Amino acid sequence: MSKSINSPFRYAGGKFYARNLILEHIPAHSYYIEPFAGGGSIFFAKEKVENNWLNDIDEALINTYLIIRDRPEELIKYLEGEQATKERHAYYKNEFTPQNKLEAAARWFYLNRTSYSGIMKPQNCYWGYGDKYSMRPENWPRNIRRTSEKLQNVEITCWDFEQVIKTAPDEAFLFIDPPYFNADQDKFYTHSFSRNDHYRLCEMLKGHKDRIKFLITYDNSPEVRELYEWAAEMHDKEWNYTINRTDDQKNGQKKAQNFKGERYKGKEVFILNYDSCALVPQESIQLDLALLF
Ligand SMILES: C[S@@+](CC[C@H](N)C(=O)[O-])C[C@H]1O[C@@H](n2cnc3c(N)ncnc32)[C@H](O)[C@@H]1O
Repeated sequence: MSKSINSPFRYAGGKFYARNLILEHIPAHSYYIEPFAGGGSIFFAKEKVENNWLNDIDEALINTYLIIRDRPEELIKYLEGEQATKERHAYYKNEFTPQNKLEAAARWFYLNRTSYSGIMKPQNCYWGYGDKYSMRPENWPRNIRRTSEKLQNVEITCWDFEQVIKTAPDEAFLFIDPPYFNADQDKFYTHSFSRNDHYRLCEMLKGHKDRIKFLITYDNSPEVRELYEWAAEMHDKEWNYTINRTDDQKNGQKKAQNFKGERYKGKEVFILNYDSCALVPQESIQLDLALLF
């Protein structure tokens, strides 16, 4: 199955709202790779191709992808009857010690679906679920099953990006979404990404630019533009997005009952090493709001 679905996870820095903008810049390819997969919102939105590879350095995230791909029914059974409550969140976060990979995936999945913005880093993992705005536990099995179908035959690894880029076959297309250059994203992700890692990524891509195609999304800063001045194209991009009630805890403000969410603007630069003018526009993806938050 290759249809467009939503990411199974809530993911800080996820590209859900920018996905149509990104999809229109993707060239024809038969080998698709995400070295920084996170919630994989572009992989899940696009058509699968002959070869697909998701990678991330976060072991707990990758373990959850593997369990969803290979043992979806066991995960569903484990989570059966689970309720989204502050007490269960605290239990999974502080008391529960997984004894095996299935239990680790169940814990990760539960906390991801019920935490503020899906942030899993223990210091910043807080309860953030609302019945009206979040995916309810009774919808989790549907989410897990359709994700599992899409993940069939997808290669999933837990490597550093450098190894992925070196191993990528000639002509592969890589969608590259690293942590931001100028924002403190250490609070979101379990592995930190240093200035040196950003330079290392740039050098790696420069070294492989004549044999693979890539699109990088980054915060639109002068440093990033300067680093990638050798790239073929740079596009300034803006899009609107809303943060729903449970994910908006700015200043701890209590929101009015009819509060639907706050509007923000995403501003990034898309950097490509190929000519995107000749691309055939792809169909826009429709949102499935029922399985989104
Ligand atoms: C901006 S997020 C990706 C979001 C994703 N595109 C989405 O739509 O959900 C960046 C990801 O890079 C991962 N990461 C950080 N350092 C890495 C490294 N050295 N190699 C591979 N992945 C890394 C983080 O774990 C995080 O999941």
